[in-house]
Amino acid sequence: MITQVLVLNGPNLGRLGIREPEVYGHATFDDLAELCRATGRQLDLHVDVRQTDDEREMIGWVHEAADARMPIVLNPAAFTHYSYALRDALAMRTAPLVEVHISNPAAREEFRHTSVVAAVADGTVAGFGLASYQLALQAIAGLVAKQSEQVAEPNERAAL
Ligand code: DQA
Repeated sequence: MITQVLVLNGPNLGRLGIREPEVYGHATFDDLAELCRATGRQLDLHVDVRQTDDEREMIGWVHEAADARMPIVLNPAAFTHYSYALRDALAMRTAPLVEVHISNPAAREEFRHTSVVAAVADGTVAGFGLASYQLALQAIAGLVAKQSEQVAEPNERAAL
């Protein structure tokens, strides 16, 4: 069965390719979206890649994922460091969540060392460029497989 996954991206990530290429590289947001969809196809995930500069829109997508039990790969961008509203929305999640960063925020300015969302995620992948998203999608595929094993197990026992 194909699992739907949202890959959500926060402010300024739509400007990949133009934005500080020495930090974020030369690939565009469209390149990132295609890479995520291609990686998803290899993992039996249907990947829907979105980007917004608007906190309200981002929170709406997180609510949508919670209602539909959809896993999320999230690059919260600058929201990472201060958005308690996004953190509270993510705390309502009903499926796996992996935080992702292109750069390694821990090796950058001090304000980037805090993530207010990390504690409500299953884990974080940071510092591997666009490959961070591929690693995050692999992690999601593993978490989804584990979840379905756990759901299948009681039935298997009942069948014995
Ligand atoms: C980022 C790191 C954040 O500190 C920054 O605000 C971003 C991008 C990353 O992907 O490396 O916008 O999340």
